[in-house]
Amino acid sequence: MAVNIKKIETQALKDIEAAKNSDVLESLRVKYLGRKSEINAYLKALKNLDPKERAQAGKEANEIKIKVKKAFDTKSKEIREREVSEKIIKDKIDITAPGEKVEEGSLHPITQALRDVRRIFSSMGFYVVEGPEIEEEFYNFDALNIPKEHPARDLMDTFWVKKEEGVEPKLLRTHTSPMQIRFMEKHNPPFRIVVPGRVFRHEATDATHEIQFYQVEGLMIDKNISLAHLKGILTHFLSEFFKKDVEIKFHQSYYPFVEPGIDVLMKLKGQWMEIAGAGMVHPNVFKAVKYNPPGPDEWQGFAFGIGIDRLLMIKHNIDDMRLLYGGDLRFLKQF
Ligand code: FA5
Repeated sequence: MAVNIKKIETQALKDIEAAKNSDVLESLRVKYLGRKSEINAYLKALKNLDPKERAQAGKEANEIKIKVKKAFDTKSKEIREREVSEKIIKDKIDITAPGEKVEEGSLHPITQALRDVRRIFSSMGFYVVEGPEIEEEFYNFDALNIPKEHPARDLMDTFWVKKEEGVEPKLLRTHTSPMQIRFMEKHNPPFRIVVPGRVFRHEATDATHEIQFYQVEGLMIDKNISLAHLKGILTHFLSEFFKKDVEIKFHQSYYPFVEPGIDVLMKLKGQWMEIAGAGMVHPNVFKAVKYNPPGPDEWQGFAFGIGIDRLLMIKHNIDDMRLLYGGDLRFLKQF
């Protein structure tokens, strides 16, 4: 026979192995395995051979056909898998497309400040606790030596929760000081705590007054605590918070739950600015929490309440506190 079937096999296997994509492979399938392929023509021509030769040549040709078909199937699978994965990648990630800008968020400045407060006071051994925002009248006022008709209540007008018969009246706490009482009721000295949290006052808002704002309360009780400790601790806290040395001074002031009462002022561009109320815990407060049975070793300590929003205004040169609660992204994006 004129056709060299071995040569066809070699060429077919070589071509199939070299095929780069499904189109090329399909044309090779037609060429080597299709109806009009050389192998088929060869098989058809076998009928002209004498029976003995025909059987041998037919077997050989069929084996070659199976081999070529197998090579084709293997290659076809390989190309298909590659093309599918290439298509998936192409559809999903168009590496030539311009990048999409991912908006990066940031923590609200108050959240950042509260984290700083926790970190700095923790580093000085203060325990961080939190109290309820809806507070009982007893804790917000009475136990803090502010009885019903006391004028100090007027300074902290607040939002009352609807009164219920036989239940202690509730209100939105006007300061974090009630947590002094709640903590002392359950713990014995010595201890030092800070209470960061949101407080509320029913008052007209302006650039330095909001109806909700944040305070951090501090309370340190031991045997020999004085205002000198308070000054050291607040100076350290403020220096860390503002990341620079700060100068503070105390002014005499009045809060019913401390004696003496003081205001803490911080020096800012040559001017003194009030940032907190403080003082030594009043004996009546100790009485309310049943501390200090008569005897020589009496507990004593200081308490303070710092306005976090005011600190932030100073730190970032914010001229209107209401910006902190406005939710305006143009403002918030700066932090
Ligand atoms: C108090 O709230 C006392 N509980 C502080 C205290 C604690 C005194 C422990 C003694 C011992 P005062 O009302 O002054 O005090 O508020 C404390 C701080 O909260 C102020 O210095 C100020 O920084 C901030 N503050 C007060 N009112 C507002 C307001 N409406 N908006 C924003 N910040 C305010």
